[in-house]
Amino acid sequence: MGKRIIVALDGMSEEKAIEIAEMLKGEVWGFKVNDLLDTMGPRQCLRTFRRYGNVMADPKLCDIPNTMSNRSRAYFGDSEERAQGLVIAPDILTIMACAGIDGMRAVVEQRNEFFSYTEIAAVTVLTSISEEECNLIFGGPVKSKVLEFARTALIAGCDALVCSPQELVFLNQFPELQRLTKITPGIRPEGVSAQDQKRINTPYQAILNGADLLVIGRAITQAKNPLEAVQTINEEIAEAGIEK
Ligand code: C5P
Repeated sequence: MGKRIIVALDGMSEEKAIEIAEMLKGEVWGFKVNDLLDTMGPRQCLRTFRRYGNVMADPKLCDIPNTMSNRSRAYFGDSEERAQGLVIAPDILTIMACAGIDGMRAVVEQRNEFFSYTEIAAVTVLTSISEEECNLIFGGPVKSKVLEFARTALIAGCDALVCSPQELVFLNQFPELQRLTKITPGIRPEGVSAQDQKRINTPYQAILNGADLLVIGRAITQAKNPLEAVQTINEEIAEAGIEK
């Protein structure tokens, strides 16, 4: 069975992140880097973590189209690497759907220009945002906003969506959205604290509801034994019995 866990290497030193990646390589789909992109720089960060599996770069780009385009370039390669025929890029790169269609399209166009294999994933409504807060920020309920963002991401040419496991069944009712890879954070195995996350579900339920990939951070990285935590979640995923 294909691996489905993306381990979020958040809030730790480069050394600690490498130690965890070394421990979990082969057991997971890959690793998500966020604040490490800032401390290490995107190029060095990508070069380091691709040794341990696939890499999801999660800078959540959100700006005017020209700036999104400029910032995304750092993820698709530099001239020195290209001269050597190397393409070092993330397998997935995140951008914010609320940046709008032109901003998302600017990043998709950069990716195409670089002939990169990177899937562009649009983040819809963060899983830490509650129903009430979504109304305040975006002026509508979570489901309708996630649907709106998903449709604009599709128009912009994105390949994947980041949403909570609670919106999966709803989104998959729309045939046009079925071809987008669904990536879901907000995953908490039974009995693990939700912390700052609001719209959560278990790994088993998320897979059953149609998630392709599960982003899991603290439930693994702060476990006493991260390898054991991954193996338990992998068993739970296998129980759902949905092959990818
Ligand atoms: O530790 P935890 O499992 O809550 O980590 C979830 C990760 O997923 C964090 O790195 C967070 O930035 C990211 N994320 C999220 N909600 C989104 C998109 C990304 O929690 N909608």
